[in-house]
Amino acid sequence: MTVRLDVLPAADWATFVANELAARLRAEPALRLCLPTGDTPAPVYAALPGALAAARSGLGSATVVLLDEWLGLPAGDPARCDTRLRHELLDRVGRPSDLHLIRVDELQPEAAAAAHDVAVAEGLDLALLGLGTNGHVGFNEPGSTADSPTRVVELDHSTLNAAVGRYGATRRPAGGVTVGLARLLEAVEIWLLVTGHRKATVLARALEAPETPDCPASFLRRHPALRVLADEPAAAGLSAVLTRSGRIRGARDGI
Ligand code: F6R
Repeated sequence: MTVRLDVLPAADWATFVANELAARLRAEPALRLCLPTGDTPAPVYAALPGALAAARSGLGSATVVLLDEWLGLPAGDPARCDTRLRHELLDRVGRPSDLHLIRVDELQPEAAAAAHDVAVAEGLDLALLGLGTNGHVGFNEPGSTADSPTRVVELDHSTLNAAVGRYGATRRPAGGVTVGLARLLEAVEIWLLVTGHRKATVLARALEAPETPDCPASFLRRHPALRVLADEPAAAGLSAVLTRSGRIRGARDGI
């Protein structure tokens, strides 16, 4: 089993990923997509309108499923994942045919997670994921396992600090709801998006250290179609063998 690795100069990364996504949507307009928010995908979403126009494709026939959501933040909070997805992507490219946000304003957290899982269980063609410096994907924090369901989660201090510090949350979130690793591993394809020097250590752990719940992203190597799209600073900690070949042997091959 192999993982496909694309390493791009930082200046080209977002356009490259946007073009790849636009090409996928052109080939498969009814794609069922799971999308993250945060600082990593933001420049991809900014580049997407141009990429979609150039590829003569769009989100209009696609289904978009939100990856995760904070609990305890008011509707419209700038850090909310649904707020960011709307502002950074949907307001620019138009609504998909189906949009599944996480209904934390209408439902109790457990009910919102269960309702979201119904949408996810219909299947994902492509899951885009960011990577936390603590090894999380979505809000599958350290301690999560490959069979973790879509659920309500407690968040790590580093994740809560990002909400308030980097994303401008108006208060400290009370927790989160996330698509579980089990559902992500059921997607037809996964693209792990990683940028910046501060992700170099964790990307190397995720791809080259033994699989462990301490770094939930390491379980992604079990997926038969994992693609890692990294910029050069994020890939700086990867072994030369790996970056030269552009192929990573997966966990089941003994790494
Ligand atoms: C956000 C999410 C998180 C982020 C991760 C990286 O929807 O699921 O897992 O992808 O925390 O965040 P950034 O991209 O801000 O470094």
